[in-house]
Parts: sequence; C-alpha cells; structure tokens
Amino acid sequence: MREQLLAAEKVTAIAWRDGALHLLDQRVLPFEESWRSYHTAADVAEAIRRMVVRGAPAIGIAAAYAVVLAVRARLAAGGDWRAALQEDFALLAATRPTAVNLFWALNRMRDRLDRLKERDDPLAVMEAEAVGIHQSDREANLTMAQLGVELIRKHQGNLQNLLTHCNAGALATGGFGTALGVIRAAHLEGLVGRVYADETRPWLQGSRLTAWELATDGIPVTVSADSAAAHLMKTRGITWVIVGADRIAANGDVANKIGTYQLAVNAMHHGVRFMVVAPSSTIDMAMEHGDDIVLEERDASELLELGGQRMAGGVEAFNPVFDVTPADLIDFIVTEKGVIDRPDAAKMAQLMCRKRLH
Ligand code: MRU
Repeated sequence: MREQLLAAEKVTAIAWRDGALHLLDQRVLPFEESWRSYHTAADVAEAIRRMVVRGAPAIGIAAAYAVVLAVRARLAAGGDWRAALQEDFALLAATRPTAVNLFWALNRMRDRLDRLKERDDPLAVMEAEAVGIHQSDREANLTMAQLGVELIRKHQGNLQNLLTHCNAGALATGGFGTALGVIRAAHLEGLVGRVYADETRPWLQGSRLTAWELATDGIPVTVSADSAAAHLMKTRGITWVIVGADRIAANGDVANKIGTYQLAVNAMHHGVRFMVVAPSSTIDMAMEHGDDIVLEERDASELLELGGQRMAGGVEAFNPVFDVTPADLIDFIVTEKGVIDRPDAAKMAQLMCRKRLH
C-alpha cells in the first residue's frame, strides 16, 4: 500500500530548492497556482501570518526552513550570530499561536543548534535538520493513512460517505495529508462513496483547498455549508467525520479549525464516528486540558467581507479561528505512533512513550 500511497502524492505546497523556501500561495488557490520564493526568515514569518502557508504541520516545516535562512544571514553578518538568531526565533514564534507544530519545529531547530560541535558546518547541519523535519512529516502521513484506513475497514467496511472540515491535506503538511491522507488511502482501497467537504467559513479552506485537492485526485467530493453538517449526517449516510488537529492536549482534547467542535457534538448525536488524524508533533503534553490552549482570533474583516466585498457593516465581529473538541466526543486519535481509541490522559501518556511505527 505504501507504494500506492506514494504514487498518489500529487499536490505539494512546500519546496526547499537552491537555498530558498518556495511556497504555493494558498490565498489564491484554486484559481491561481502561484509559487513564491522566500530568502529571509522575516519574509517567511510574514507568509505564515498572512496564511500563504497554513495547516499545522506545514507551518512547522516552513518555520524550520526559515531558521535555516536566518542562520545563513546571521553567519554572514558575523559577530555573535547565535545570540542574534534569538530574534529570528522570537519573530517566527509570534506568527500564529494555536498550532503547536510551529513551536515544536522551532524547539527542534533550537535544540539542534545547541548541540552543534566545533567541527560542524552550522548551515549544513541546520539545513539537514529542517529537511529531516519535512521528510519525517511525509513519512508520518503515510503511516497514519494506513492506520486510519484499517479503522474504516474494521468499523464499517464497504462504501463510506465521509465528512471533513478545513484542509488537512497535502497543502497543510509535508506529505499528502493527515485527514486527507486517510481519505486518499480509503479511496485507493475502494472504500469511499463520497466526501463532503465543509466550506469552512470564513477562510474557505474546505471549498477552496480540500475540494480542489480531492477533485484533482478524482475523489468524489461535494462542498456544503458548515451549517449543513447535522442535516448531512441525518440524510446522507455519513459514517465518519475525519479531521486534522492543530494542538492536542495531554488529556486528548483537540484544538482544530473553528466548527470542529460542533461537528463532534453532531456526530455523537447521529452515531457517526469521529476520527482525528495528526502526527505526534501536534501533541502538546505540557498542555493539561484543551481549555488552556490559546485560540487564535483573526481580523473581523475575514468575517465581514467576502472576496474583498463588504457583507455587513457597523457591527463588531468575533472571529475565533479554532475551537476545542473535548476528548470524550472523539472516537479515535490516529498518529504515526499508533491509534488511541476513546482518548484520555493515561492513553495519551502511553502513546507518547512509543516509538514511531515505521
Ligand atoms: O487556519 P489554518 O488553515 O492554518 O487551520 C488549519 C487547520 O485547522 C487544520 O485542520 C489543521 O492544521 C490540521 S492540518 C493537517
């Protein structure tokens, strides 16, 4: 299955080439496939903030490459380059608060920096670390896809109608996706009837990105309004909700795109299984509960405007872009270290002690 899955990797959004970071601009998809090149950490930080690159693992990978760009610039400037680099770490850490993969990747890069030996070439070592982060995310996607598809086969079998939210696909990761990785694998196994992609207001990750990715792969996809989810579960034979995550707390609570929580409540009411697919770099054992996770709020204009056109005016808007789904609404958390069924603190701690499966 691994070879089949590798062959199914069609879309990429992050490339490290000729000493520069190249990002597929997700703000203009699906109508424009525009690649932008980045040569400085400050420009990558701005790209993360403005969502040229988005999705928890992808943000982490971009930040790791940004550190490489920063190392190159600080070395060239001379002086105490390691001290100067702290400014770059701080700038990158301040871009988006919720996805822990950003901080995980920065910590890994900082840790590698701290372990540099006198004889090492700092730039080559840091570049290898960033490439390693990128590659291991791709590998994690493959492992999770296989684990997730086994769950679908075991717990339902035959043709399934699946529902997903936001974009947890190739655009959001270093491989072919977390939730969409499982969906792609299920499609290859002939298990998918149709995928319903929530449009995912207000940024439209579902209708602009997920629908495009699935349609590119020839997977039957239907876009629906976020508010149609309960109705779909009642009338369209949805058997699974499959989503990604931005941060998973030590008790199994999951922060993900706004609207995920209401999907989990609806899924429980309708007897629809709820699967969260995320690499272990998304798990934050330092965060005891989901309630402690900082949930990003973005500009009101994202809600009050559509395609640059004002839709409402003279009112305040509340625009939290993530919410927290309590662990007790989740059937499975799928990671590259294994699967947790009905997550709780003890199972999460056990999982984190395991090695990667592949
Ligand atoms: O605001 P975004 O688009 O960065 O939010 C992305 C999500 O919420 C995804 O579902 C999550 O990061 C998982 S991506 C594999």
